[in-house]
Amino acid sequence: MRIKGFSKLSRTEKIAWLAKHFLTSNPLDIAREFASFMHVNAETQRLFDGISENTLTNFYLPYGVAPNFLIDGKIYCVPMVIEESSVVAAASSAAKFWSERGGFHAEVISTTKVGHVHFLWRGETDKLFAFFDEIKPSFFSGIKHLTANMESRGGGVKNIKLVDCTNVEAHYYQLEATFETCDAMGANFINSVLEEFASMLVYETAQYSQFKGAEREAEIIMSILSNYTPDCIVKAWVECSVKDLSDVAETNLSASKFASKFKTAISIAAKDVHRATTHNKGIFNGIDAVILATGNDFRAIEACGHTYAAKNGKYSSLTQCAIKNGQFRFSIEIPLAVGTTGGLTKLHPLAKRSLEMLGNPGAKELMKIIACVGLAQNFAAVKALITSGIQKGHMKMHLKNILLHFNADEKEIENALTYFADGGRSVTFSSVREYLSLIRNKHLASDKR
Ligand code: MEV
Repeated sequence: MRIKGFSKLSRTEKIAWLAKHFLTSNPLDIAREFASFMHVNAETQRLFDGISENTLTNFYLPYGVAPNFLIDGKIYCVPMVIEESSVVAAASSAAKFWSERGGFHAEVISTTKVGHVHFLWRGETDKLFAFFDEIKPSFFSGIKHLTANMESRGGGVKNIKLVDCTNVEAHYYQLEATFETCDAMGANFINSVLEEFASMLVYETAQYSQFKGAEREAEIIMSILSNYTPDCIVKAWVECSVKDLSDVAETNLSASKFASKFKTAISIAAKDVHRATTHNKGIFNGIDAVILATGNDFRAIEACGHTYAAKNGKYSSLTQCAIKNGQFRFSIEIPLAVGTTGGLTKLHPLAKRSLEMLGNPGAKELMKIIACVGLAQNFAAVKALITSGIQKGHMKMHLKNILLHFNADEKEIENALTYFADGGRSVTFSSVREYLSLIRNKHLASDKR
């Protein structure tokens, strides 16, 4: 069923139309269900509705915190928004573990962002470069109205260069601009400046006295920031003597065996793309959760991180491990173009609260915190994988979810956790249903007696 003007309908009309054509339950029940997820006040609801389009209701995700993150001597309680069980618990346990071993350390290497005007130009490449050298200063002066504010904060356009891409596509060139956007992620700022550059390029080529005919026509294909920001980089690391890893796992692995197994696991992730993908997915479990909690753009962060993971021509691990002179060192280096001002960061009440919880950091401090959470998440995952396996922890959470699905009460949950932990009983929907019906029937029988 197609519809014209859907966006113009009221919320109630939209839901009624959906219920009629795409859902099977009673339309009133559907409307009630959607309404039941709108428990915020009218002003906040208006704000949420305005963030996106065709909004019907709110979609809740769990908002948790991982305490005890010691980063460069400062303790953070890190907000995390994630739907996957065990992630927050794993981050918390890694944070606690490393807080007892000197904590995390982090350093921002650079914060440059980049964007391009992609265009076609039909003429001799040398002539275009000569033109560009001549008019380059006017590109800077022509955007002053857009950059004045950012410049007053210490940012702005750092450089513009012309790039010959004719080996990639006939007549294809780029204006490549680099930016400093301070505490903003800067997407709007960058895109506005690039679109202005594009207009100026069209105008200047048309006016340039040395150009004739087709040379006067720069054909703009698109103007857009690049989410690949290899020069907006942060690194984070933990280190301790190998012998201090002795109580790392509730297993009988020695500290040195644990360290060497851990290093081998990281080395496998560096070399094998299948493992690298899952390994990095685990890192993004932590990173995305903080990105979401602070109102940043997780798609941009993920896209960039994965491209960076393939920077040497083959997809690889984002973390590294070294053991030298009895010292264990585990580190991450990752591009993170985040903001602590602009976008949703101050608009979404919980994003604002998250930033407050972190001490209202600037973008650089947030980059450090997020890199440490990614590292912690990876440490916890690899630690579990090389010792008890991840299913033990996952199954416990999985079991809890199934129990909640069957409306188990607290006592039933407690008993079920003991029952299924015992003898490694397999946790499936049907085994949990059978278990519950068994104990519920037993209770019924004893109540009747
Ligand atoms: C699950 O969400 C993430 C892990 O698979 C990550 C990993 O394998 O390193 C546990």
